[in-house]
Amino acid sequence: MRFSHNKRGIVKQLIAGCGLSPSFRIEILNGLLKLGKWLKNNECEVVVESRENLFQYINNEIAKNAPIDYLEFGVYRGQSIRYWIQLNRDQNSRFIGFDSFKGLPEDWNLFTGVHPKGYLDLGGKIPEINDQRVKFIKGYFQVALPGFLKRFNANNRLIINIDADLYSSTLYVLASLNHLMSPGSIIIFGTFSSVTHQFKAFTDFTKSFMRNYKLLVASDPFYSQLAIVIV
Ligand SMILES: C[S@@+](CC[C@H](N)C(=O)[O-])C[C@H]1O[C@@H](n2cnc3c(N)ncnc32)[C@H](O)[C@@H]1O
Repeated sequence: MRFSHNKRGIVKQLIAGCGLSPSFRIEILNGLLKLGKWLKNNECEVVVESRENLFQYINNEIAKNAPIDYLEFGVYRGQSIRYWIQLNRDQNSRFIGFDSFKGLPEDWNLFTGVHPKGYLDLGGKIPEINDQRVKFIKGYFQVALPGFLKRFNANNRLIINIDADLYSSTLYVLASLNHLMSPGSIIIFGTFSSVTHQFKAFTDFTKSFMRNYKLLVASDPFYSQLAIVIV
């Protein structure tokens, strides 16, 4: 795309007006280049219009409505976990939601601005969901997950939905669950195209832990949500 002088000026002003430090701008540009390269190497055959369509595709076409162990990191008010319990009605499925319910543990720096530590705070209130298959584990992942994992055995196909915004939260979850991932395990990202957060955490994880995967499905616009399967 070519910009006229006038439009170029506006873009420059917008970028300058965002108050981004030069090093953060370089980090973002570098991340965008890496994402572009990644997308070229990982062609996505199925692109859907919404997060709900992405969930439906995974449950109906990939998991074939069979029992699942669905672990969700970043529950907030429970919108996505509620959607999943309607989607997969198998009585042997388990749905486990992890969240501090006190918001983000640190500032979330984005191209568009900063959401401060504590953003999305619900004062510790857990969503009320009337389904015996659902459990919540309250606390920062870094504190609550190790104890949970000592007692947890996967019985069914594992579906991990990471919708926790931050690089640190995403990387911690991926590294902690590495031992549970086997061929067929599915990982969903809520903000994949966030290049300094989820995309970076995912590529750092797969490289460091030598994990191979295949891209399954992404959602428009800009592949904001995306799912992969471990191979
Ligand atoms: C975008 S919201 C989740 C949205 C939810 N999946 C939905 O569909 O409405 C992100 C959530 O991640 C949680 N979160 C992020 N990092 C966390 C961490 N390290 N430990 C616990 N919760 C965390 C926040 O508390 C917040 O509720």
